[in-house]
Amino acid sequence: MDKIIVKGGQTLEGKIKISGAKNASLPLLCCPLLTNDKVTFTNVPELGDIRNINLLLECLGVEVTQLDSAKNAGNLGHAFSFETKEDKHNAPYELVSKMRASILVLGPLLARIGQARVSLPGGCAIGARPVDLHIKSMEALGAEIELDNGYLIAKAPNGLKGNKITFPFPSVGATENAIMAATLAEGETIINNAAQEPEIIDLGNCLVSMGAKIKGIGTSKITINGVKKLHGCEHRVLSDRIETGTYAIAAAITGGEILLENTSYGLLESTFETLKKCNIDIIQTDEGLLVSGRKKLIAQNIITEPQPGFPTDMQAQYMALMLKVNGVATIKEQIFENRFMHVPEFVRMGANISLLGNTAIVTGGVQLKGAKVMATDLRASVSLVLAGLIADGETIVTDVHHLDRGYANLEDRLSSCGAIIKRVKDTCQK
Ligand code: UD1
Repeated sequence: MDKIIVKGGQTLEGKIKISGAKNASLPLLCCPLLTNDKVTFTNVPELGDIRNINLLLECLGVEVTQLDSAKNAGNLGHAFSFETKEDKHNAPYELVSKMRASILVLGPLLARIGQARVSLPGGCAIGARPVDLHIKSMEALGAEIELDNGYLIAKAPNGLKGNKITFPFPSVGATENAIMAATLAEGETIINNAAQEPEIIDLGNCLVSMGAKIKGIGTSKITINGVKKLHGCEHRVLSDRIETGTYAIAAAITGGEILLENTSYGLLESTFETLKKCNIDIIQTDEGLLVSGRKKLIAQNIITEPQPGFPTDMQAQYMALMLKVNGVATIKEQIFENRFMHVPEFVRMGANISLLGNTAIVTGGVQLKGAKVMATDLRASVSLVLAGLIADGETIVTDVHHLDRGYANLEDRLSSCGAIIKRVKDTCQK
């Protein structure tokens, strides 16, 4: 298994081009299941999760064609076309267990072919992460769902019927599944307390290009009027806001300056507002976002919340930043109950952090020391790399397969800005 070795102490300067968003791509790539026409996506990132969802789609009868050369990856993103050739409905454990977002095939399969057999998902181990809201919303649309041997067996032999769905919590994935399913359901569906993340707006825009009738996307109340058929389209995937925020923190934590291209301030407003209060300069220029951490940083408390609040996917990286700042910051995690697995790893590097329930109290300004640390989930992994950038000596991040699920060419992009970072194959047996 690969590991990443970072030698701390460099000030990062340069340019990084932000990829298409992983979390937008995953639901988008399930949309071709809603039609037999060809659907083309550009700006698709080069990631493990994308390879997984493509394999799953192939298993479900979709012909997946990469339209550009592999060399085009990294900076430009890939273009893929998808065409459903056969109506298959079995999403096997071997593929679904690698990635929680695989549950997003449930809505489209039920909507177009009236049946789905989908293994219960896996993904990052950041909490229990049940799928009850996905199931309840499909049931509200008339599907019958049973659990058999770890598989959800879902049926809607007479098609889905529009209904009112009110989420107790604005789940991103459940909102996406419900929107996709409702596009082909008979009549009107109203989703109350819907998630409002930019990736949901991107999904809605794509579905509208495919002929769906959707209103209120990006608000907490979404209205969908079902249509008989959807058609093909070409859609460019939104830029990755979490990658944007991660590299912004890489600039700030090292006291450097990075121009982030192919992204915008509006994608990650709440995070940027907090970073500005920390005394980080963020300027939108014609070329992109210029992020500069050359001033003395100030600690700020955060609470993670659904959009438009501070995103949970930026919490670990923000904690790495607070390790650098002289002062105390409290970080409250409200979305996932087990999303502090980076804390013991930071402590191995000498960090002063105490945990009180779902709140971490970070006393920053202590010089970190390089250590061997373990990546435990996707965003935790990258936060260890960020901490490694400011630690004395070498930090060795193991288990980086988590990182590869969501960050394309991380080492190359950081080295292009002056970081001393490399990937090595781990030959030791575990
Ligand atoms: C998506 C993102 C993930 C991000 C998360 C929150 C993708 C592929 N992943 O994950 O990176 O961290 O949003 O912004 O887009 N919940 C339930 N029952 C359900 C569904 C969710 O209880 O049926 C709970 C979860 O356990 C969690 C909370 O709701 O505590 C938020 O989950 P959700 O918004 O659904 O996250 P995901 O869609 O899985």
